Amino acid sequence: MRFMTERIARDGRALDEQVLLVDSFLNHQIDMELMKQCGSAFAQHFKGKGITRVMTVESSGIAPAAMTALEMGLPLVVFKKKTSRITNGTVYQTVVQSFTKNVRYELTVAKRFLPEGEKILFIDDFLAMGEAAIGAGRIIREAGSEIAGIGIVIEKTFQPGRKRLEAEGYDVFSLARVQSMSADGIAFVEP
Ligand code: G4P
Repeated sequence: MRFMTERIARDGRALDEQVLLVDSFLNHQIDMELMKQCGSAFAQHFKGKGITRVMTVESSGIAPAAMTALEMGLPLVVFKKKTSRITNGTVYQTVVQSFTKNVRYELTVAKRFLPEGEKILFIDDFLAMGEAAIGAGRIIREAGSEIAGIGIVIEKTFQPGRKRLEAEGYDVFSLARVQSMSADGIAFVEP
């Protein structure tokens, strides 16, 4: 989507060849008009897929996912990243490894917010290794539901996330696809 590549080209900054800084509009200060455009683009792309619920992971996925859920008139459920000690069988949990941040966390969601038979649109801010979406998919399957689509704000195509998600059969749609980053600038895969 041109609006997202233009914004990254204007305000994004390559920290190094792996990490793109977008804290002025996506994950620290958040441009809500831009998030609204993200919501419209995801809603438009996944229209007609029978989606019943939008899900994301805290925290930077929440803004684009919220605007998508609003646009589609659907509930939004947020996976937590904190371990729930007293679960009493009331939550689903799975361990996810973040390679970018070099941490492991437990993706957690209360069972009552993820009923059986749902068709989930999973939204996230970045696609790097695909670990968050793969972990979410494990939980969603365990709940007897399915991921019907994955919407990503910024995909880094030089990392294997898309390949891994497509190998699991997921339909992945990204608003911007970053091919490479260097001191010379940010290069995009054009649609
Ligand atoms: P993966 O799910 O695709 O495997 O991604 P990975 O674990 O490698 O990265 C997870 C975290 O790192 C996410 O944040 C994601 O937003 C962030 N991230 C990945 N690549 C970039 C990047 O190029 N730039 C920036 N700014 N962030 C990146 P998180 O741990 O979920 O934190 P939060 O900000 O959502 O709270």
